[in-house]
Amino acid sequence: MLIKKAEFVKSYSVVSKLEDYKMPEVAIVGRSNVGKSSLINMLVHHNKLAKTSATPGRTRLVNYFRINDAFMLVDLPGYGFAKASQEEIAKWGEMIENYLKNSKNLKHVLLLVDSRIEPTAKDIQMMNWLYYYNISCTVVATKADKLTKSEIAKNKKTIASTLKVGVHNVIMTSSDKRIGEDELLARLEQFI
Ligand code: GTP
Ligand code: MG
Repeated sequence: MLIKKAEFVKSYSVVSKLEDYKMPEVAIVGRSNVGKSSLINMLVHHNKLAKTSATPGRTRLVNYFRINDAFMLVDLPGYGFAKASQEEIAKWGEMIENYLKNSKNLKHVLLLVDSRIEPTAKDIQMMNWLYYYNISCTVVATKADKLTKSEIAKNKKTIASTLKVGVHNVIMTSSDKRIGEDELLARLEQFI
C-alpha cells in the first residue's frame, strides 16, 4: 500500500461524541511518549500532521486522520503518563475503553512499545485487555534507531515473549530512520 493522501479530520475530547465515519479504523495505542504521533507522521510522509512532543502526555484527545479516502488512523492518548493527575488517568481510561469497546469500525490496533526496553506492566495489561475483547493487534516497537542490529533481533524476541505473541506479530520501527515502514504498511493492508 502507498499512502497518497492523509488529512487530519477531527479531535474529540468526549468519547460519547465520536462519529461513525463508515470507514475501517486502525487505532494506535501505547505509553505516553512512545512515539505514536511520530509513527503516524512517518507513515503519511508529513512531519507535522500529528503533533509530537518531547513532553509526555501531549496527545490528550482522540485524533482521527483519514488516509487515502479509504480508512482512518486513530491516534489515542498515551497511558502511563507519570505526571498525570488521578482524574486525568481516570478520564484517559474511560476514553480509551469507550473507544475500543464501542467503535463500530475498529479493524485493528497497533500497540506501540519502546524497542529498547521490556514491555512494561501497563503494556502487558493493555495487551491482555485487547486479547480479552478479541481485538486484533500488531505490536509495533518504536525507536529502533537507538539499537544495534543484534539488539534489534534480540529485543524483538523478548518483546514477543513478554507480550505472548509470535515474533511475526512484532514490527521493529523507527520514525526517525524510517525503519519498518514497508512491513507495517503491508501489515495494515490485511485489515482494511
Ligand atoms: P503522547 O502523545 O504524549 O502520548 O506521545 P506520543 O506517543 O505521540 O510520542 P511522540 O510521537 O510525540 O514522540 C515522543 C518523543 O519521542 C519525541 O521527542 C520524538 O521525537 C521521539 N521519537 C518518536 N519516535 C522516535 C523514533 O523513531 N526514534 C527516536 N530516536 N525518537 C523518536
Ligand atoms: Mg502523541
